[in-house]
Amino acid sequence: MTPVLHLLDEIDSTNAEARRRAEAGETAVQWIVARRQAAGRGRRGREWNSETGNLFATLLTLTRKPPAEAAQVTFVAALAVADLLDAFAVPGVVSIKWPNDVMLDGDKASGILIESGTHASAALWLAVGIGVNLAHAPDATERPATSLASHLRSDIAYPPSVEAAATVLAEAFAIWQTRWETLGFAPILDAWTTRTQGLDGPCVARLGHETVTGIADGVAPDGALRLRTADGQLRLISAGDVF
Ligand code: BTN
Repeated sequence: MTPVLHLLDEIDSTNAEARRRAEAGETAVQWIVARRQAAGRGRRGREWNSETGNLFATLLTLTRKPPAEAAQVTFVAALAVADLLDAFAVPGVVSIKWPNDVMLDGDKASGILIESGTHASAALWLAVGIGVNLAHAPDATERPATSLASHLRSDIAYPPSVEAAATVLAEAFAIWQTRWETLGFAPILDAWTTRTQGLDGPCVARLGHETVTGIADGVAPDGALRLRTADGQLRLISAGDVF
């Protein structure tokens, strides 16, 4: 079943709101969606441009999985975003870049930021924050950005509706999450692998304070990126460590 979805006009950050609710002891699995964020958060402490018209959504959920396994939710989120974009975009343009950037025609169209902590119930809370460029592509920071509006199917009204996108995202997420919970990670990784751009080229992984460069050599069964560094060593970069 799809969790309840709260649609707010404005908030500082849907991830910050999910954290507040988790820290207040809320147990309801819920989506927090906002039309605008005053202080949207991106990875590595960056801002996330949060103009009205794009989608800003966070799923607050609880899990008893150990943290390393719970971090695999990032692949679940990427698949749900890919399904959302597939539902609205022209055919053949959606792909995923490890671990969770969803691209349209090779340019970044979304971002995922996962935060977590210990809930009063001793479970782990997860705030799965998802930003999707529905109407606007923010100025590029690291890599070119695009929006769904530039790749919209001709039978979909412009601009893409935030409500419709949030509903499709929540439904797709629930389907992938149920598969993950019931069948484990292997089918998630299989589905993710069929949708990713090749994983066999030069690659830069930015961890907390460390930048690791090398040649990507596929992913391990737990979703970690296999990276061959210049000194010939094989590093396994966990998806949960990239932020
Ligand atoms: C990235 O840097 O690629 C991740 C960006 C994540 C942005 C989303 S928008 C909804 C949620 N609330 C936030 O403050 N950030 C995430």
